[in-house]
Amino acid sequence: MILQSIRTSYERAFSIPPSFIVRAPGRINLIGEHTDYNNGFVFPAAVDKYVYLAFGPAFLVDETRIFAKDLAKSAILDLTQVEKSSESWQNYLIGIILQFQKKGHSLKNFNCLIQSTIPIGGGMSSSSALECGFAKGLAHLNDIELSNWEILEMSHTSNHEFLGIKGGIMDQFSSLFGKKDQAMILDCDDRSFSYESILLEDYEWVLINTQVQHDNLISGYGDRVLECKEAAKILGVESLRRARMEDLDTKKLQLSNEIYNRACFVIGENERVHTFAQALKEKNIKQLGELLYASHDGLQRLYEVSCRELDVLVDLAKKEEGVVGARMMGGGFGGCTLNLIKKKGLEEIVDRIKTSYFEMTKISPEHYIVEIEDGVSII
Ligand code: GLA
Repeated sequence: MILQSIRTSYERAFSIPPSFIVRAPGRINLIGEHTDYNNGFVFPAAVDKYVYLAFGPAFLVDETRIFAKDLAKSAILDLTQVEKSSESWQNYLIGIILQFQKKGHSLKNFNCLIQSTIPIGGGMSSSSALECGFAKGLAHLNDIELSNWEILEMSHTSNHEFLGIKGGIMDQFSSLFGKKDQAMILDCDDRSFSYESILLEDYEWVLINTQVQHDNLISGYGDRVLECKEAAKILGVESLRRARMEDLDTKKLQLSNEIYNRACFVIGENERVHTFAQALKEKNIKQLGELLYASHDGLQRLYEVSCRELDVLVDLAKKEEGVVGARMMGGGFGGCTLNLIKKKGLEEIVDRIKTSYFEMTKISPEHYIVEIEDGVSII
């Protein structure tokens, strides 16, 4: 359905059908939040919400046209002279084009239509899906062989150097390496990973979207990156991945309360990833729930990246017997909570949470029951 509608939209915009479509998924993260840039462990999975990019030949050899359908905005670029734009959506793409050029690839001009089903600001990583999908498309269009790791690196470098977003590698990794019905435990230090089945017969993974994204996301995120660096330095380790709770307690007096709390969260969250994986194998539902709530508690109180709306959703989830566990997901300061909910009575449970959330915040939330899907593909 959606593919047909994208083909039709492309044809309407550019008069001919697209040559191919790239489909890049968003992600959930079961546990292991704010650990990736500390070289720690994450447990993400690609989901059935996608950025679609339809590509075809350019009208003119020196002109690229990109149409962002959801934004109803378009860009005309000449790939030989790209530079930073005042339109932030374009910079995600321009950053990737520059990465290709830095690697010595010359790119031919093209037409492209972009459409997404990933809720923007939902913390499901629509921007990484956009960047990775775009890179995959450019490589295909220009017959350039690129591994998923090379694409990940291009997107990560562009975020750091061109966009000034100092994120980790979890989002790109999930969009590129996702696998149907499997989540992935990734060691962000040596980049080894394994696929783990997360299907729990009687339960569903449900996202509930606060529908807010507070302005302090970028600054708050950047502050946490620096605070973790500072903590690692005082603890004498290369990254918080190498720190242990005992070291933290020995050096407690040298750390401010704030820095102590940040490090305490990261060390605990890394441990939770392994305990969670074990509980998943043993189908220990009770423990899974406790770990999800513990993760949220740490993100709220120690790491301070939650917000009122996320806390309201998690507190409402706690009141429901059918909810195993819930926590904020992604960078924080808004976006979605991840909930593990019993299939039996699920709709009623979610409805109750959404109604109470609306009563308390006057904001209508959305929810998504997510399917775990494959990573980026060309259709
Ligand atoms: C954002 C970043 C990721 C990761 C998460 C928090 O999604 O892009 O790299 O740090 O926040 O876990």
